[in-house]
Formats: sequence, structure tokens, C-alpha cells
Amino acid sequence: MTQSLQPLQGVGACVFDAYGTLFDFASAAARCADIPADRREALTVLWRDKQLQYTWLRTLENRYADFWQVTGDALDFALESLDLAGPSLRERLMELYLGLEPFPEVPAVLGALRKAGFKTAILSNGSPAMLEALVKRSGLEAMFDAVLSVDAVRAFKTHPKVYQYALDSLALPARAIAFQSSNAWDAHAASDFGMRVVWCNRYGQRRERLPGKPDFEIRTLAELPALLATADTNKTAH
Ligand code: LAC
Repeated sequence: MTQSLQPLQGVGACVFDAYGTLFDFASAAARCADIPADRREALTVLWRDKQLQYTWLRTLENRYADFWQVTGDALDFALESLDLAGPSLRERLMELYLGLEPFPEVPAVLGALRKAGFKTAILSNGSPAMLEALVKRSGLEAMFDAVLSVDAVRAFKTHPKVYQYALDSLALPARAIAFQSSNAWDAHAASDFGMRVVWCNRYGQRRERLPGKPDFEIRTLAELPALLATADTNKTAH
């Protein structure tokens, strides 16, 4: 991807996707030693893929159910597909999903951004209870001005009302928000919506053939602070 050479100007807030961007969704299955090693990664991948498909389909069908239910349904599908079904494993994995590990650079990056004057927030498909647990258990409670769940608008990403919800909550125009996601599809959609976007391509994904174009592509969030000019604290909503 062509990277613009200039750091992003006029940004007042850094808004982050949660799962896969701040928190490592692979850390749940990784902590279950009783899942045979050869199926651990397959479970993580299938669980995640199904979870996302269900969010898109439910939004399309106008049949919203919160991310806790969607995540559980996707896990049931994945466990059955891989011949791992069993009530105790399901329960353990769901519990572990509430305490996913943050990626190693996350605390320091959030600290640096806040020190530099940026507002910081999460914008995630996660239900309010799931996000609250993640933030609390990782000790990052003091690191966010807002933890925004799509539950407030009862639609999942990439519905435009999700991105609009961030603007309304932070009282900032789209151009004053730098949005970070590891999901290429989320990054494209936020860019198409008008946000500045840094695609944190942790998983080495290919770029999507979808509307929107991330401003930057990085490999971990450690590269983010250098991409932002000084925080703009004078932005107001339009
Ligand atoms: C989220 C998922 C899409 O946190 O990663 O919204």
C-alpha cells in the first residue's frame, strides 16, 4: 500500500477496534492445554470467521443479537466442526474470551497517546459487559475516555451507524478521528465513512477490494504514535 509521507494532521481522538487489534483473540484457545495442538489454531480461526459472518448476516437480516450470543453461537459451530464439542470446554473458552490478553505494546502505546493529548476510545462489536470485562481484567480502565459498544445502535460493523456512533459520542467530526483496526474490512469501511485510518495489519492480510482506503498500514500499534502529528484539541462536531 502507498503510505502518505506526512503524519496525520488535525486528529483529536484515537479510536480502536478491540478484538484482534487491542486484544489477542487467539489467547483463549491458547490457554486450553486440553485442545489438541493440531486443532487449536483451526479453532481460533474458524471461531473468529464464523463470529464475523454471523455479525454481518444478522445485521443484513435485521436480526441483531448481542456479540456474546453471536460469539457463543460461532463457538458452538466451530467446536462441532472440529469434533471438540463438550460443555466444559465451551464454558471455559467463553470465560477466557472475557479476559483476552492485550497485545504486548498496547499499554505503552495508549499511555503515550494520552500523554500527547489524544483522546482514546474503543469502538467494538463487543457487548458492553464483554468490553467492560476486557478492559478491567487487562488493567486498562484508566486508558480510555470512552468504551463504545455497537450495542447502542443494535447493528454490527460495518453498518455506517456504528462509525457515526463514535462521532456522536466523542463530539468530533470524522476527520478528527484516527481509527485503528487489524481487520482490513473494518479499516476500509471506516475510511469510506470519512475517518482517518491506520490499518494495523497484524495478520498479514491482503487489502480488501472494498470502498475506502486506509491512510497507513502498520504491523503493530507500536508504530502508531509516530504517524500522528500533535493532538488537535480544538475540534468540534459538525
Ligand atoms: C471488534 C471486532 C470486529 O472489536 O474485532 O469490533
